[in-house]
Amino acid sequence: MNGIKIRGTGRALPEHVLTNGDLTRMVDTSEAWIASRTGILERHIRTGETHASLCRDAARSALERAGVAPEEIGVCVVATVTPDTRVPSAACTLQKALGLSYDTLCFDLNAACTGFLYALHTTECLLAAAPKKFGLVVGCDLCSRLVDWTDRNTCILFGDGAGAAVVEWRAEWPSAGAVLGCAGNDELLRCPAPPEEGYLTMEGQKVFKFALAAVPWCIDRVLERHGITAGDVDFFVFHQANARIIDLAAKKYRIPPEKYYKNIQRCGNTSAASIPIVLSELADADRLPRGSKTLLVGFGGGLTWGGALVEMA
Ligand code: UT7
Repeated sequence: MNGIKIRGTGRALPEHVLTNGDLTRMVDTSEAWIASRTGILERHIRTGETHASLCRDAARSALERAGVAPEEIGVCVVATVTPDTRVPSAACTLQKALGLSYDTLCFDLNAACTGFLYALHTTECLLAAAPKKFGLVVGCDLCSRLVDWTDRNTCILFGDGAGAAVVEWRAEWPSAGAVLGCAGNDELLRCPAPPEEGYLTMEGQKVFKFALAAVPWCIDRVLERHGITAGDVDFFVFHQANARIIDLAAKKYRIPPEKYYKNIQRCGNTSAASIPIVLSELADADRLPRGSKTLLVGFGGGLTWGGALVEMA
């Protein structure tokens, strides 16, 4: 067995906050509907910020907290569906901004809202073969770029942001044992690429049902893989897509309130950034002490889903 632990985390959110009240002046909705159906009260939406600036700020903060220098990073993966440019990739732009070495593997990865988990697993595998044993895993999305601001079904759900984790690989550490899956489905959640035009569309209720099945599947497989029970997990971090999905999972597994967390009320759904933003907020609040085991669960477009168990170094 060999694998990664998390050394440090960071996050960056745009300054501008868009409230549910603001949205009632843009589409036919109400503050009460959004709050009760999603748990969201407000979200951060970029004004002056770029994808590159949010990635840079989140990653710098993670490196600082980890006490790791840019030249020690062997692999840098950015999970995203909304980079500033396709080429160079967000990871290459980040390499330049941070001064990562020329021999650092830098690339973007698209697994929609499950992107951070796919990137974490990919980084763990690559670090096993890399001469440098630190990895930088970033989740960053500016979903405000994808949504139709006249479509009340989707525009109320998303926010912009970035989260980052610096991980270290050691031969004597257990693998995060990620379980990942996907099922091609371009009807439930779709976002076309140019030259096709159009915004993100989603069949909300069907995706909700998919999430209700995917979350326990991921939890069960991760527990099975690690030979532990839900009671052995110190903290659960869920992708923040809907507070009701998180609360239903917590109820099903009898997770006490002090062992899971929601920031969806402040951030909305930030896609690939949601899990690392939560990790960073928890770490700053000293709620993920060294040695604690956190079970991560993500799901989203693709469809994609995944889970992993990570320890804080
Ligand atoms: O991270 C990617 C994964 N995404 C997700 O996990 C999202 C999963 N889905 C959801 O979170 C929920 O399905 C939504 C929050 C998107 C929608 O909630 P819902 O309870 O499933 O509502 P619904 O789509 O069934 O719509 C119920 C009603 C409809 O009206 P009628 O047809 O019953 O008259 C909608 O037109 O609510 C209406 N509606 C709204 N009303 C006020 C839809 N959006 C709004 C709105 N404000 N913003």
